[in-house]
Amino acid sequence: MRYLTFALCKGRLASETLKTFEKIGITCQEMKDKNTRKLIFVNEELKLKFFLAKGPDVPTYVEYGAADIGIVGKDIILEEKRNIHEVLDLGFGKCRMCVCGPDSARELLKHQELIRVATKYPAIAKDYFYNKKHQTVEIIKLNGSIELAPIVGLSEVIVDIVETGSTLRENGLHVLEEICPLSARMVVNQVSMKMERERITRLIGDLKNILQEG
Ligand code: PRP
Repeated sequence: MRYLTFALCKGRLASETLKTFEKIGITCQEMKDKNTRKLIFVNEELKLKFFLAKGPDVPTYVEYGAADIGIVGKDIILEEKRNIHEVLDLGFGKCRMCVCGPDSARELLKHQELIRVATKYPAIAKDYFYNKKHQTVEIIKLNGSIELAPIVGLSEVIVDIVETGSTLRENGLHVLEEICPLSARMVVNQVSMKMERERITRLIGDLKNILQEG
């Protein structure tokens, strides 16, 4: 039996993923060691391999077949537009992609004004403003702390993830429009889906069962 390889997003999503996998009997003891500098973890018994990658790279590993399966946020799937199968909503990592800004920016969104939009997600922002709202905007790519942009006058609004809403609240900003709900998804390589259909289908079935139980 060949190894099935999983690419997981470094951080909170990876720990949630491992917790969920444990419920269906998939464990990876090696990965729990917080001090390890290892990059690849193996479960010899089940013939599984796991590696941790930066979120936006997970769909890339899966598209090229370096990983058979990836667990990644829907935000990254939408932004990266990779050729992969999205097979399951894992239900954790729930949040929303939103247009946010100060109250004063509400009017600018209503009247098709040419505004600046700062975001870590230029493809999602472009799709929303150009294809859904038919509003021409200038998109400015940032790499983090997006909420700063409207505060310091870089942009009128931002497109960003809102989870608890506390970052917005603490900085006097609001959700102005909701683009879409987000959560962690399982994605599968197109060829692996065919070659390892049985194992992958069983895995999806097991996960669906425990997700239904809540
Ligand atoms: C994300 C997102 C928001 C924040 C939302 O940032 O970009 O800033 O979390 O969460 P909240 O609604 O619970 O406050 P992250 O912490 O990932 O860091 P970043 O600013 O570097 O992107």
